[in-house]
Order: sequence, then C-alpha cells, then structure tokens
Amino acid sequence: MVENLMQRETFYITTPIYYPSGEPHIGHAYCTVAADVVARYKRLKGFDVMFLTGTDEHGQKIETVAKENNLTPKAYVDLVSLRFKKLWRALGITNDRFIRTTNDFHKKAVQRIFTKLYDKGDIYKSIYKGWYCTPCESFWTESQLVSSKCPDCKRDVHWSEEEAYFFKLSKYQDDILSLYEKRPDFIQPQSRMNEMKAFIGGGLQDICVSRTSFSWGVSVPFDKKHVVYVWLDALTNYITALGYASGNDADFRKFWPADAHFVGKEIVRFHCVIWPAILIALDLPLPKRIYGHGWWLADDSSKMSKSKGNVVDPFGLCLRYGVDAVRYFLLREVPFGSDGVFSHEAALKRFNSDLANDLGNLVSRSLAMVQKYFSGKLSEQQEFLESDCKLKNFAGELCLKFEKYMDDFQFSLALTEVWKLVSLCNRYIEETAPWTLAKDKKKARLSAVLYNVCESLRIVSILISVFMPKSAAQILSCLDLEDEPIKWEDAKTWGLLPKNSNIMEGGVLFPRIFPKDNLGAD
Ligand code: MSP
Repeated sequence: MVENLMQRETFYITTPIYYPSGEPHIGHAYCTVAADVVARYKRLKGFDVMFLTGTDEHGQKIETVAKENNLTPKAYVDLVSLRFKKLWRALGITNDRFIRTTNDFHKKAVQRIFTKLYDKGDIYKSIYKGWYCTPCESFWTESQLVSSKCPDCKRDVHWSEEEAYFFKLSKYQDDILSLYEKRPDFIQPQSRMNEMKAFIGGGLQDICVSRTSFSWGVSVPFDKKHVVYVWLDALTNYITALGYASGNDADFRKFWPADAHFVGKEIVRFHCVIWPAILIALDLPLPKRIYGHGWWLADDSSKMSKSKGNVVDPFGLCLRYGVDAVRYFLLREVPFGSDGVFSHEAALKRFNSDLANDLGNLVSRSLAMVQKYFSGKLSEQQEFLESDCKLKNFAGELCLKFEKYMDDFQFSLALTEVWKLVSLCNRYIEETAPWTLAKDKKKARLSAVLYNVCESLRIVSILISVFMPKSAAQILSCLDLEDEPIKWEDAKTWGLLPKNSNIMEGGVLFPRIFPKDNLGAD
C-alpha cells in the first residue's frame, strides 16, 4: 500500500523506429532530439519516464540495399544500426531502450501477435493484386497513384500479385472515426487530424499484412513462405519493447498506453489508422497522443534525399556548431508541426544571435562583473528596489508559460519565452548600469543588481537544461550549483541562489562562428 502511494506517475514516449537503409540524417535527428527534450523535461518534473527509439530492420528495401552493399541483410543492419546508436550518443540522447526489429524477443512477439489476430479472424488469407512502393513499403491501388507514381514519395511503384494474408482494417473504420470524435487531441497538430478524417472518409479497405516475394522479415509462424508485412512488424515495436507477448510484461503493464508517439507527417496514416485498429483488435488501450511533425527540407525546398545528395549530416553539424547548438537550432527554428528549410545561413544566424550574443554575452558579462567588483562573492548586504520585481515576476510567469508550451510540444515557443527573460536581463543591466554603481561605490545596490541577474541565469539554466544540457550545467557550475541535482520546482521559486555563492567565470559558452569557419565539416 505504502509502496503504491509512492509510485511516481509514468510517461512513455517513442520515436519512429528508423530504417537503417542509409546513414542517419538530420530528419532522424530532429524527431529523436524532440523526444529527448520531452523525456528530460518529464524526468525533471519527477515522472518515471520510458523513452524508446530503435531501428526498423526488415523489409524489401533493406534486403535490396544490403545486396547492393554485398552484405547479408543482418550484417548490413548490424552496421547501420550502430551508426544510429552512435548519433544518439553524439547528440546526448537519453533513450531508455533501443529496439531492433531483428531482436529475437521482438520477432517472437510479432509471431504471437500475428497468430492471435489470425485466430480471432481479423487476419485471413487471400490474393493481393496491386501496386507496391518499396521505398515507403506501402501498398497502393490504381486510383491512389498520382501520375502512375507513389502518392507519398512520387517514386516508381511496381505491380505485385501474390498470395497474402490480410488484416480486416475495414471492420475498424467506425471505431477509429468514433475515437477521433471522442478524443480530439488524439492526433496533433489539428491539421493532421483533419487529413486523417478525410483519408478514412474515402473508406478503409483491408490491408495486406504478409509478403512472399522476398524473405527478409519475420516469418508467419503457421505458413513459413510468408513474411510479416514490415509495417505490422514495425508498429508493434511500441509494445514488444515493453515485453508485450513475451511472458514478462511488467513494463508493459507499467508504461502502456504510450503518452506520446512522435512521428513524421508522412507516417501519421500508419500510426493513426492502422496502429489503433491493431490495438483495438488486440483489446489493448490506445496511445494518448500521436504528434505528426513536419519535415526539414533542403535549401531548394525539396525533400532531402540520398539520391539527390542533399541530406544534411548531423555528425557534421555537431562538429561545426556544437551539440547543444544543434539541439537548440532544430527545435527553435521551426514550429514542431511545420516544415522548415535547412540552411547554414539560418543556423549561423541563430547561433551568433541567440546563443553567442544574447545568452553567451549575458552569462560572460554578468559573471565577469561579479568577479571584478566582488572577487566572485557578492556582498550579502543587498539593496533591492521595487523596480527589480519586474525580473522576478517575469521569471514566475515564464515558468508557467514554458510548462504549457512544453506540454503542448510547442518547443519553439517555449524557447522564445526563455529568451525573453534573457533579453530582459540584458536590458536590466543596461538600465541599472552596474559599472556606474561601482564607480559611485553603491555596493549594496550593485550586489542586488548582480544577484538578480545571476538568479535569472539560474532559472534560465534549469529551463534550458532539457534542450541544452551541457550549456546549462556549465552555467550552473559557474553559479556554484554544480553539486545540486537540477529540480523543476527550483525554477519556480525566486531567490534560491544563496547570496554568498562562490561565483566563477567560465570559458566562452558559444564562441562566435564566422561564415567561413569549418565549412568543410559536413
Ligand atoms: N521505419 C519507418 C517508421 C516505422 S515506426 C513504427 C520509417 N522510417 S524512416 O527512416 O523512413 O523515417 C523515420 C522518421 O524520420 C519518419 O518519421 C520521417 O518523417 C522522419 N524523417 C525522414 N526524413 C525527414 C526529414 N527530412 N525531416 C524530418 N523528418 C523526416 O518511416
């Protein structure tokens, strides 16, 4: 009983599992960084978090790419999934699990799920005749094609005619529509919900869930010439990673249903139509929210693609700008639901203006003044004025707004709010002119002014710690707070910085980057 009372609220967040069909790029980094920011934020608020990512390693596309590389599919995915893991380490990603669909436990669970749906009558055998897009691993009917190409990626499709198992998606059409009615927040942003309603309005057909024309996949346990369709295999990762259908489902009971699935806009359809139908068929609860984010486009506004050679390499970005700056840029530059065009000019501008100029300068000038006027230890005699409340009140409201934006996954607005406090501090320094107070020997007033700025920096650091963990830790350590675990509640209370802290100058947080610096890095 006591243990129950003490159980923390859980929060389960996922990214899509990525196809290891090539090197990870900025589009993959984007979603994983966003999910990481949420996971860190929820942990900071005391939640018991499960953050899952991984790689989607089966299917025709992977089989083909492996062949092109003269490797077996398994040898190939072993190599590329390591690159994803390496990127997550480089970007400071704090995922709790990394699932690979070639994991044995996952394959066995997929087979059990397939059998369960078959036994229930929701999967049946028939003949598939239609078009298939290998890059998207999607089936299309003649009427869905656009100029004879895949309506999603606009690439060639090929005719496929094979014996296949089908999932009775049509049976769940009304359940899904009534789910959308009952839970208007199920799909976000709202525009994606409208797209899905329109999509279902056209009528749902049963979908093909097995293939016989290649072999790289999970075999159907009772009909070995079939492999399970890669999307059925992939979607179930969100539950198999928690031990569903494995005999040890303690984590599944603890964390399911997911609080948020983050997915790119082109795969919202799989997550908001097929995935709920599978879960309903399995008698399982549905995820709470599915957020369809936008794409990063190349600087000619086209979708980045390996064949066009215009994908942006996140390893190179980290080398050039630093990890925290990359994390900041990705989430600050573009609202999470919208598309954005990537350019080094925009990245450089953000870096030099928001990071080097606004925040970096504020930190270095404030800490330098505490050093210069007080040798690092503010005088405890401090003269506060009524006008100082502006900073304190702003900081209080900032926490509330930040919380709301974070809960709505409006990362760019959350960061914009924090930067308002940064600007306010810069203005406050100009207005109070500490250098004049020092000249006039107004020690008590000078100490209060610098205290207010350092205290604001403490709050800013807590808030940005989920976006820019290294920079936040660096500032907090200069404020003599490195031994304190960062706590969300501490951001909400003004005045927690001890008056007699040993404040130190740090190095330059964000050294200005000039356009021609490190141009060869990516
Ligand atoms: N394997 C499937 C997902 C299965 S989830 C059960 C898949 N993989 S993917 O590697 O092609 O894409 C993974 C995610 O990366 C998608 O959400 C996709 O939107 C995202 N991105 C790929 N390129 C992107 C951009 N250029 N910009 C932003 N995200 C994009 O689909």
